Amino acid sequence: MEPISQVIKDLMNNNPEFAKRMSAVNESLASDPIEVLTKPSKQCPVMKCDGAGWIWMKDWSKRHLRNVSDEWKEPCECYEQMMKQRVIDKKLDLSGIPPIFQDATVASFNPNKYLEADSRETAIVAKKAAENLVKNYQAMKNIGKGLYLYSSIKGSGKTRLASSIANALVKVHGVDLIFIKANDLLSQVKKTYGKESLQTEDQVIRMFREVEVLVIDDVSVEKTKETSMTFAEKILYDVTDYRLEHRKVTIFTSNRTIEDLAKVYTEGRVKSRINKMSLEVYMPEESIRDQEAESENAELERMIFG
Ligand SMILES: Nc1ncnc2c1ncn2[C@@H]1O[C@H](COP(=O)(O)OP(=O)(O)OP(=O)(O)O)[C@@H](O)[C@H]1O
Ligand SMILES: [Mg+2]
Ligand SMILES: [Zn+2]
Repeated sequence: MEPISQVIKDLMNNNPEFAKRMSAVNESLASDPIEVLTKPSKQCPVMKCDGAGWIWMKDWSKRHLRNVSDEWKEPCECYEQMMKQRVIDKKLDLSGIPPIFQDATVASFNPNKYLEADSRETAIVAKKAAENLVKNYQAMKNIGKGLYLYSSIKGSGKTRLASSIANALVKVHGVDLIFIKANDLLSQVKKTYGKESLQTEDQVIRMFREVEVLVIDDVSVEKTKETSMTFAEKILYDVTDYRLEHRKVTIFTSNRTIEDLAKVYTEGRVKSRINKMSLEVYMPEESIRDQEAESENAELERMIFG
């Protein structure tokens, strides 16, 4: 078979109209021989690629060259954004923020959910504190201060507000963060004493000491059969002392005031450290959980008995 270039040459020699058209095509290719092959789609936030983050190009002027690639891909503007998002998703995945609060935001924390006027006022102040911590995170980081969310009542929204702060710190500031119940923190350390443990006590404590932001949920309710208070006090001291000295932001929730911590951690060293490294924020003394349970149960009754 004749090579295609020979066929074209013959056509051009025998057909002046065709020759004219070919030279017009060649001229236009020479002026702008680069073609974007990727079809833009709505999947791409800037409508430049098909959503995969790459744009395929072709240089028509190189199409006859041997051993030279005439097609290649370039990253789309959305690519960097997509990579950043992936890192954030991974950080959120690994953070340990409770799954029911994975979408909780500070903005959707609703002070009007509380029935008492006092509670609503307290909730507005707590929400403002949460917003300001997120907004001024760099400054808080420089001085190494966090928050201590307190209410004696269960179900008042402490874990929910701490989770929404955690979500925002990861999403807005890209921080590495661990969210953990005080009890689970202690069990994780305890587990390392087992013969089969893959990690040493030192490694686990180092993780809680060094992580950029640590959220310890339910401080001071960790006294259980297997966890003596001296052990809890020693580990919490190890973690908070290091974080205080290294000015690391720590957020606590508790149903005891900071002042009352000294009654549980009797040596007083944990209390004085937590007092130094966090600002106490009062949460309403009203349970949203009870409210939610009542309305959920009413709905359930209608569904089951109705
Ligand atoms: N202001 C709010 N806006 C919307 N939902 C809220 C708000 N506060 C609390 N909730 C809801 O109330 C329930 C209880 O909240 P949460 O678990 O945070 O309470 P808690 O104070 O941590 O309780 P505990 O002391 O038992 O740990 C959750 O289902 C949460 O979604
Ligand atoms: Mg809680
Ligand atoms: Zn794109």
